[in-house]
This record gives sequence, structure tokens and C-alpha cells, in this order.
Amino acid sequence: MKSRLQEIKNKAESEIPSAKTEDEISDIRIKYLGRKGTLTLLLKDLSSLPPDERKEIGKSSNELKNWIEDNLNQKQKEIKGKGVEGLKKGFFDITLHGKQTVIGNIHPLTKVLNEVIDIFIGMGFTVAEGPEIELDYYNFEALNIPKDHPARDMQDTFYITDDVILRTHTSPVQIRIMEKCSPPLKIIAPGKVYRCDADVTHSPMFHQIEGFMVDRDITFGDLKGILELFVHQFFGKDIDLRFRPSFFPFTEPSAEVDIRCVICKGSGCRVCKGTGWLEILGSGMIDPAVFSYVKYNPEEWTGFAFGMGIERIAMLKYGVDDIRLFYENDLRFLKQF
Ligand code: PHE
Repeated sequence: MKSRLQEIKNKAESEIPSAKTEDEISDIRIKYLGRKGTLTLLLKDLSSLPPDERKEIGKSSNELKNWIEDNLNQKQKEIKGKGVEGLKKGFFDITLHGKQTVIGNIHPLTKVLNEVIDIFIGMGFTVAEGPEIELDYYNFEALNIPKDHPARDMQDTFYITDDVILRTHTSPVQIRIMEKCSPPLKIIAPGKVYRCDADVTHSPMFHQIEGFMVDRDITFGDLKGILELFVHQFFGKDIDLRFRPSFFPFTEPSAEVDIRCVICKGSGCRVCKGTGWLEILGSGMIDPAVFSYVKYNPEEWTGFAFGMGIERIAMLKYGVDDIRLFYENDLRFLKQF
């Protein structure tokens, strides 16, 4: 029996130091000290020995058991010291490289929106907001677009019920503000708008910024002046713009503003479809019919309004040719701004 004990010790002595993982340590523990472990089985045979011998062998077996346990524990500590557990316990390698944290940046649309807002705040405008889930009344009716008016087809509307829709433009904010406040007003209203449309230049959700000004003696000249200032600040001093007659039910007269194509500088290309010009916004003098919905006296007050697509001007400013890039959160795209 003594020689069997020695044999076990020799084996353990060579196995324990070569263990490399905590699993291996646990396997060795089971092999010697488990329910069917070699040392456990040997201890079971003790009862068959004569009392004297039993005492001596019993003592040596216990010593061996403690020795194996101590060595296993020691080895386990060593292994843990090298892993994450070790870090927690304060063993760490101060020469290792740290993980670099990635710093985010402002989304290009937010950036453009903030820039536009800043320009108009600089001209004395105040920021207002309205709901994205809107009543037909504010989105259409009070903007002089009655039911069955053909202008409703210009915008593919998402209907929630017959009367509740996702707003198709930011113009309903004009009505909400004018209902509550008396002139003079100088407001911009940025926000999300929704149209049932999707391709490289259209997204079912996009951003607009509305602007309007109501006071005594506001003229088309004021509208031109403000929008010219804006274009020159946003796109640069050397960018030409033109006012092209247009139609909106809530403005009269109406105009769309075009800027000289930022890609070809006017000679004609694919982006401007050969015209040399790019449309950036709709605008006009607020129609007296709109004033009558909000109970403003059109003899006393006049005003202008304009509405601009944020994605559109962001695409033109940065030469982005697919609107979907703004929403896909591809870091390779977002990191460029
Ligand atoms: N709401 C119009 C649109 O979305 C833009 C516009 C706003 C036109 C204000 C005139 C005045 O197309």
C-alpha cells in the first residue's frame, strides 16, 4: 500500500505542474480525489489492513490528500492570475495597449439642420414645432387645400383615419402658430414629414424646415432678401439663385427657388437633368384665404412662407447621390462628416 501511495504522488507531481487551464485542474482533482478517484479508492481499502498499519497508512494517505489539494489550489491561483480573473484581483499588465474608445460625431442631417436653424436665428427667427401625426384640417383644409382638391395628389399621404394623417409637410405648423399667436411673427419650424414615396431621392420619412413671417407691409422683396441671404450663407457667396413662378394653394404668388447646379456649375449634367439649375425650396406670399382660417385680417397683415427639404440641401451641399445613405447608419458614410 505504501508503494501505491508513492506511485500516486509521483503521478500527481508530474501532472499538476503541466495543467494549463482551470478545466484541466478540475479534471486532475476528480482523477485523484473524486468519488472514484485513485486516492479515494485506496482509502476505502484501509479497513482491510491490520490496526497498526491502518494507522500509519491512514496518516500518509491524509497527508498525500492535503498535498494534492494544496498543489492543485496553488496551480489554480497561478492560472487565474493570468486571466481576466487576475485582472479583477489586481494582477494586470500595465504595458498592454488600452482599447481605444470610438468617438461619435453629429449625424450629417442634424448638422445641416442645425446650420440652417442657426442662419435663420441670426436673422431674428424663432423656432417652433408641431406634431408629426396631424389632422387633415391643419395639413390640408386650413392651408386652402379642400377635400378633393387636385393638390392633394401632389403628396402621397399616409392616412391613419379619414381625418388623421402623418403630416406631408411642415406647413401645418404655420396654421397652429397663427391660431395661437398674433402678428408680428418670424418663425421657423423644422421637423419630420412623411410621404408614400421611396427611391434614390425620396424617402417615406424626411425632414423639412418651414419658415414664415407675418407683419404689416411684408412684401415679396422681403421673401427674396431673406432667402438670398440664406442661400449665400449656406451654399456660399458665389452661388446664383433664381425665383421661378410656381403654384401652391396656400401662397399667392408662389415661387420655387433654384440654385445654380453645384455639380456642373450650370453647364448641364445628370444631377440637374441638363438644366443647370437645382430646385431647393417652395415659397410664396401667404394666401389671404389662409389668413381667414386663422382670423387674421388680410387687409392689415401680409406675410411670406417657404418650405425646404433638409435631405435635399444636404445632398447638394455634400454631393450625396442616394438619400438612403442618411438612414443606413453605415459608419464609413457617417465618418466623412
Ligand atoms: N409645403 C410645401 C411643400 O412641402 C412647401 C412650401 C412651404 C411652399 C411654404 C410654399 C410655402 O412642398
